[in-house]
Amino acid sequence: MNQDAKPMIVTCGLPYANGMAHLGHMRTYVPADIYVRSQRKQGREVVFICGSDTHGTPVVVNAEKEGITPKELVTIYHKHFSEIFARMGVHFDAYGTTDDEENHVRTTDIVQKLIDGGYVYSKNIDIAYCPSCDRFLPDRYVEGTCPHCGVIARGDECDQGCKKPLFPGELIDPRCAVCKNPAEYRSQEHYFFKLSEFDGFLKDYLDTLRGTDNAVNYAKGWVTQGLEDWCITRNMDWGVKFPGADGLVVYVWVDAPIGYIAFTEEWAKANNDSWEKFWKAESKGTIDTQDSEIVHFIGGDIVYHHCIFWPAMLKGSGYSLPTDVVASGMVKIEDKKFSKSRGYVVWVGEDYLDQGFHPDLLRYYLSSYTSHTKELNFGWDMLQEKINSELVAVLGNLFYRSLLFASKNFGEIPNGTVEPEILKKIKQTTADAIDALKEYEFKKYSDTVMELASFANSYFQSHEPWALIKTDKEKCGEVVYNCLQLVKALAVLFEPVTPGKMQEAWIQLGLSGNVADVLYDEALVPLVPGAKLGTPEILFTKLEDDKISEMDEIAKRRVHLAMKEAGLVPDEEKLIEESKKGKKENKSEKGGKAPKCACAAGEKMDAENKTENVENVENETEILPEITIDDFFKAQIKVGKIISAEIIEKSTKLYKIMVDVGEPEPRQIVSGIRAYYEANELVDKTVCVIVNLKPAKLCGVQSQGMILAADDGSGKVSLLMPDQELEPGSDVC
Ligand code: 2FM
Ligand code: ZN
Repeated sequence: MNQDAKPMIVTCGLPYANGMAHLGHMRTYVPADIYVRSQRKQGREVVFICGSDTHGTPVVVNAEKEGITPKELVTIYHKHFSEIFARMGVHFDAYGTTDDEENHVRTTDIVQKLIDGGYVYSKNIDIAYCPSCDRFLPDRYVEGTCPHCGVIARGDECDQGCKKPLFPGELIDPRCAVCKNPAEYRSQEHYFFKLSEFDGFLKDYLDTLRGTDNAVNYAKGWVTQGLEDWCITRNMDWGVKFPGADGLVVYVWVDAPIGYIAFTEEWAKANNDSWEKFWKAESKGTIDTQDSEIVHFIGGDIVYHHCIFWPAMLKGSGYSLPTDVVASGMVKIEDKKFSKSRGYVVWVGEDYLDQGFHPDLLRYYLSSYTSHTKELNFGWDMLQEKINSELVAVLGNLFYRSLLFASKNFGEIPNGTVEPEILKKIKQTTADAIDALKEYEFKKYSDTVMELASFANSYFQSHEPWALIKTDKEKCGEVVYNCLQLVKALAVLFEPVTPGKMQEAWIQLGLSGNVADVLYDEALVPLVPGAKLGTPEILFTKLEDDKISEMDEIAKRRVHLAMKEAGLVPDEEKLIEESKKGKKENKSEKGGKAPKCACAAGEKMDAENKTENVENVENETEILPEITIDDFFKAQIKVGKIISAEIIEKSTKLYKIMVDVGEPEPRQIVSGIRAYYEANELVDKTVCVIVNLKPAKLCGVQSQGMILAADDGSGKVSLLMPDQELEPGSDVC
């Protein structure tokens, strides 16, 4: 054990125990597991913590849908996640639930400390209430328009638009997510955490916080924009009771991260150790001087909670602070944005493990496809290509050919010494691999180790042991000995990525114990000549075309089914019906009515239906199902000239823009392009405007249309403008 190193706790974002584990989850958990294994190989004391997030509306809403209690639902999925993690080789030292007694007690303690410290106050606020269901609507029970960007959002987060967390009372035009009826706001007393008081602390803290840029830099940006106090109570029964207020529980984002501490306590109890050495560590006020390291691995969508809310809560209640926040990039499935409702999902159990795929193949794919913070695309053919050309052709090939040759020709580890060049290569690879993980570069780690495997293959090839055995058995033994040493080093170095397969290799090398338990230094410890070898077996077998086609077929069927359920792909009957209807309409059009005129004459886009689609299918950027030309012409687009643009004070994103679209009066349009254009830059610009969009109020301001803009997905947004001056009111067709 490295005695000088600080005790380290590594956590993973807690999965909601409300559904099955999917590839998106694994994108965070597998690299975290690799990181922990690698730290242990460096002699660090690391405790790896996770658990099920069991409270909040994500759980309660799903339980209601399933017709079971939240407790029953979380029991089912807690078991599911525990099993999937074990099968994937992701080994947590403690995997609790946020409904555990330890978490109730720790949460109450922390909230009470915040109250005692004067960081909590009560205030009457507007809470959405559904008169039809006769209940208050916390978080995901309510939907409406985001006050920041104008997109349809749920009560706790603008999940489809700007991704900002939303607070009770903020949604515009709220409606009940269950019965879909309009909700009303009713005043109620709730409790707030004075996040705004932590502004100065957070600025300094974020300057020292380590981790990935997509976590640290985003968080810095948010603090610069200013912090609002945070409502930390909800009207629910399920959750951790808020001290001293009947009928209120703490918001799930309070008790969920506290789970990290509670599960450490569970680990400490089970191992007769201390949780305080991690969470109550000595510190001279900065994380660099803190006597513990707290590393959070999270999905890129929960950075705000981990870099802002959580450190402020810890600071306010006197606990140690996170030292590193590592956020993973998004996952795409077959080049499509990950979406359960659209069927672009890979379930780890039923689609992968139950289909007989080895967990290590997925671990390798997830860690080596791209950098940890970049978008990862999963496709069955890409998995096949990567596994067959890398794990099978390079690593597996080296292991099998070396072990088989040694076994057949020597029956044991032959006589030999490790060549200096090979020792140097192993040393350098180990150092480079360790360095890569200091930057959370998992791909670099895998690639570095794979380069050593390629080097070893070249060594085997260029020394031609198959020829040497006939002419110089002793020299051949030397070569094979060095090949086996490289196999040993690779088993040690690759254990964090493919632990199951490397353990098999360890046994084939005739080595005892667990390769997971040895330090990196072991890679340099020479094999013992004359030691017995295990039985050589092929470690990685090719993924065959048939299996991959079968998986492709399953994936396609799922997408088709999901689209059908969302009403996006007409089933065969609907297709036939629509084609008949289309023929009839075409006939009547021959009577002289052009489709465009028919739409322009009166049909308006049905904003309600649009909302339904948004919530069913999530916001996607890929190609949507085909529409007819008639569908397209339902939107009436005209050229407009911007007369003025002014900031809407209540919002951080919106402008109120007056546009001349060739009508007697200019149109007032609310637009979310404030982040991309200065108000004075907009004046006199000739733009394209949907003029028959159902009017809507955004941040209390009436909007009578939409100005079109293009977004390249990387933050570059441009207004769509004709390439010559056109009169306002000109048709866009
Ligand atoms: O977003 C989520 O899936 C949450 N369940 C993550 C919670 S992480 C932590 F803070 F507990
Ligand atoms: Zn938004």
